[in-house]
Amino acid sequence: MSEQRIAFVTGASRGIGRAIATRLAAEGRHVVLCSRSQAPLNDLKAEIESSTGASASVCACDISDPAALAKAIEDTVSDHGRLDILVNNAGITRDNLLLRMSDEEWDDVISTNLRSVFVACRAAARPMMKGRFGRIVNIASTSGLVGNAGQANYAASKSALTGFTKTVARELGSKGVTANVVAPGFIATDMTKDLPENVVDSVKAMVAVKRLGEPADIASAVAYVTSDDAGFLTGQTITVDGGMTMC
Ligand code: NAI
Repeated sequence: MSEQRIAFVTGASRGIGRAIATRLAAEGRHVVLCSRSQAPLNDLKAEIESSTGASASVCACDISDPAALAKAIEDTVSDHGRLDILVNNAGITRDNLLLRMSDEEWDDVISTNLRSVFVACRAAARPMMKGRFGRIVNIASTSGLVGNAGQANYAASKSALTGFTKTVARELGSKGVTANVVAPGFIATDMTKDLPENVVDSVKAMVAVKRLGEPADIASAVAYVTSDDAGFLTGQTITVDGGMTMC
């Protein structure tokens, strides 16, 4: 490969997305950092450039807005002439029990966690096929594999990524484009920081390695799945949960 790989990472401002972006930059990729607000992305860009020596760029975009997200991907392709790696990481929770869940809570989660992945993959497919190389990674969750009380919307959005990703893998595989799901278990980020201590303790008890995951644990898996070496790995769900579900 003569040219630098270009990676687009959503939800890069913090947590798992930040770790993925930093790791991909350390692997020599140019990373386009996408999230809702510009300021934290500017800080991350500066940090990545000083710590890894790799260049990065910033793209503030609300991924629940299909037109804005499609334009962000198109702009990336026109700025860099290619798109090699797409990591659909941004996601939200709006938890409630089924009987109390509002239409808005359902729709917010489905449009952010699921429709955005469809929009981004559709926009990325043509440039990746043209380049005869692509690595798509969709970040799901163990909630989508085994369910979780209070998360009907979230589990549905994450579970749907499995069938969607397998279909993308089948449609694009002959053009050198792979598509996989990485499904994290409990990872210590802003998303999980408000969980009561007794819940965290009961989670740890279920995890074979007896700790919560770190964002870097997910970034390591994404680094491999998006590498040039992973061309025969597609349509898979890689569960990175410390042995919590083993399903
Ligand atoms: P987080 O809440 O710490 O960060 C989420 C990121 O997504 C932030 O950068 C946020 O700005 C961005 N984002 C959210 N909505 C957006 C929108 N509409 N437009 C643009 N950016 C948006 O979350 P965390 O924990 O880092 O999670 C990352 C992914 O991993 C999510 O898809 C989440 O569902 C998944 N996950 C997380 C787990 C955990 O235990 N933390 C477990 C399983 C899956």
